[in-house]
Amino acid sequence: NNTGSAFGASLSPPDPTNCVQPDPEKDPFCPPPPFKDYELPPHDDKTLPLRIRPAAHLVTDDYIAKYEEAVRRMQDLPPDDPRSFMQQANVHRAYCDGRGYTQKGFADYKLDVHGSWIFFPWHRWYLYFYEKILGKMIGDPTFALPFWNWDNPAGMRIPPIFTDKSSPLYDEHRNSDHVNAFIDLDYKKDDSPVKPPQTILWPPVEKKNNSIVDNLIVNNLIKVYTAVASKTNSSPDYFLGPAFEAGSAPQQHFGSLESLHNTVHSWTGERENNHHDMGLLATAAKDPIFFAHHSNVDRMWNIWKTELLDGRRFDHKSDDWLESSFFFYDENKNYVRVKVKDCLDSKKMGYDYQRVDLPWLLAGE
Ligand code: C2O
Repeated sequence: NNTGSAFGASLSPPDPTNCVQPDPEKDPFCPPPPFKDYELPPHDDKTLPLRIRPAAHLVTDDYIAKYEEAVRRMQDLPPDDPRSFMQQANVHRAYCDGRGYTQKGFADYKLDVHGSWIFFPWHRWYLYFYEKILGKMIGDPTFALPFWNWDNPAGMRIPPIFTDKSSPLYDEHRNSDHVNAFIDLDYKKDDSPVKPPQTILWPPVEKKNNSIVDNLIVNNLIKVYTAVASKTNSSPDYFLGPAFEAGSAPQQHFGSLESLHNTVHSWTGERENNHHDMGLLATAAKDPIFFAHHSNVDRMWNIWKTELLDGRRFDHKSDDWLESSFFFYDENKNYVRVKVKDCLDSKKMGYDYQRVDLPWLLAGE
């Protein structure tokens, strides 16, 4: 059935025939080519090892060289190649409300992959193909994106691989006050550049002679705990976000981790410039750090399901969620349709995460 979903209320891919700007250089989905349903390649250790996504602050020089080379080659692709750096950023923009696609079969309603239960699966698939494209660029199918480990004190700043001005991983549109600062997971877009000391105290996990930093760390860990591990709020509605069904207006009901992830976006973006790039949906994916940020968000989804101290958590079970579908380009430029139900286990998708300490697991006790 190529005309839409079998389930009345599950979200279909956007209707790209309704192009705001039919320009293949600006819009990877316009005009829409024929699509195929995507099948996950089989993964087992003999054929292809898991891609293990490393913490961005722990990567080796070899890794950095590969990652930079892959991004450089992506930037060098012709602008109308759907795998090119700008086209990949446009994919994110295309799925935001601001881009203005309507829902298939519901011309009155726009599509947005933020603010609902679509957030986690859509971004997981987006990173999946982005990572495969990077691997393709350097002929290394084991290449894995790094994750920005902002839930661990050692990762609570912009990872240095993204701050070298000569690197393709650098983006000039970031908040200059934050380049060497500890992240503040309470940051609000209108906060003054220098935040007053926090007042919440908890024994710091790392001894620093700086009580402002200590307090920031503690507060950050509590924020992560509350978003991910909260015992009173263990439902998928709370963590993944509530339903967004086809034929309804885009929701603004952010799951707990999506809200926290919004803060990291605003904190990173250039304050004087309306929070470009990271702080705006239309430009966020132009900053390579976007993908490390989302890799961490995606990692938290795995942790939420299997590693919390009071037992595992469960995804939504509704078919409206499981059957929701999206379009992407794979690493070979095939235009493919994917479904939520096929992205619930990252190992089946061929990747997992480097294990690091989770100091926030007990931060809410
Ligand atoms: Cu599509 Cu971090 O947002």
